Amino acid sequence: METFTASGVPAMTGQTIVITGANSGIGRVTARVLAAAGARVVLAVRDLEKGRAAAAEMAGRVEVRQLDLADLSTIRRFATEFSEPIDILVNNAGVMTPPFSRTADGFEMQFGTNHLGHFALTNLLLPRIRQRVVTVSSNGHRMGTIDFDDLGSECKPYRAMRAYAQSKLANLLFTAELQRRLTDAGSPVLAIAAHPGMATTNLLRFDGRGRMRYLVQKAVTERLAQSEEDGALPTLYAAVADIPGNSYVGPSGFLQRSGAPKLVNRSARALDTDTARRLWEVSEELTGVTFPSAHLASNPALPQQ
Ligand SMILES: NC(=O)c1ccc[n+]([C@@H]2O[C@H](COP(=O)([O-])OP(=O)(O)OC[C@H]3O[C@@H](n4cnc5c(N)ncnc54)[C@H](OP(=O)(O)O)[C@@H]3O)[C@@H](O)[C@H]2O)c1
Repeated sequence: METFTASGVPAMTGQTIVITGANSGIGRVTARVLAAAGARVVLAVRDLEKGRAAAAEMAGRVEVRQLDLADLSTIRRFATEFSEPIDILVNNAGVMTPPFSRTADGFEMQFGTNHLGHFALTNLLLPRIRQRVVTVSSNGHRMGTIDFDDLGSECKPYRAMRAYAQSKLANLLFTAELQRRLTDAGSPVLAIAAHPGMATTNLLRFDGRGRMRYLVQKAVTERLAQSEEDGALPTLYAAVADIPGNSYVGPSGFLQRSGAPKLVNRSARALDTDTARRLWEVSEELTGVTFPSAHLASNPALPQQ
């Protein structure tokens, strides 16, 4: 198989792609490449100024819209205002190891942003999505467990990395259960997950564990990590390659830290279908957003590919 690079992205003319957190890092590179390939790309960002600055450096049809994944009201507004079909939704935005804080709706920040925000956004947009939902997880999911008794990490001393790992495991369980539901509903839409390995982005800017540990972690990351351009390749591959639903794409190198994208394995916990179903149900309760089965493939109002 030929090694996939950004130049392997086919012409995307006529396609609309929404990317969360596209003003920075992997999301920004993904947006730039897809816009250069001819897609209309919507940067869904929490800070419009940052979004416009990123868009100004991209060639092609790029729009900026406000979306704060830590606030369900802005997610609902974003989805309501989006009336046109979407070919690909890329759930990329994320926060890693901030000090304990809550979203506008009271959820622990990492679980709320990385998982619940994307859960709500996806289900609200799903009736308009024609091709794929790509969700960016992490190698860190391997350290994660879903603690249904304490999803908000509040019953024990807050360990930011544990909460991050839980949120990234949730990204994979979400993808698996979403694919199961799409298939059951007869929808052609694919749910695919990706992870960038280790890439030099702004993700490390928070660290709940003190400045010295932050500086050590930053130095280690800069030594081991790949560029954000290479880090975006698994996401791009997940968006355009001919792969089955519920695939997981990551770097092919040692410990999946860097290298060309390929289909990769996931932890045993990420394959647990019972946990995936239960997490979905709990996420529906927490967000008040449900799977829109009645509005999927059978919806005659949705233009087909
Ligand atoms: N870099 C790595 O080594 C690595 C490894 C594994 C997984 N990942 C995953 O890759 C994805 C992209 O991260 P990155 O490395 O590119 O980091 P990044 O440069 O920090 O980008 C993260 C993006 O998410 C946005 N974001 C954060 N909270 C948001 C919210 N509440 N609403 C909307 N947008 C929000 C950020 O916006 P602001 O600029 O406004 O903060 C930023 O645009 C994340 O899901 C991350 O978990 C990265």
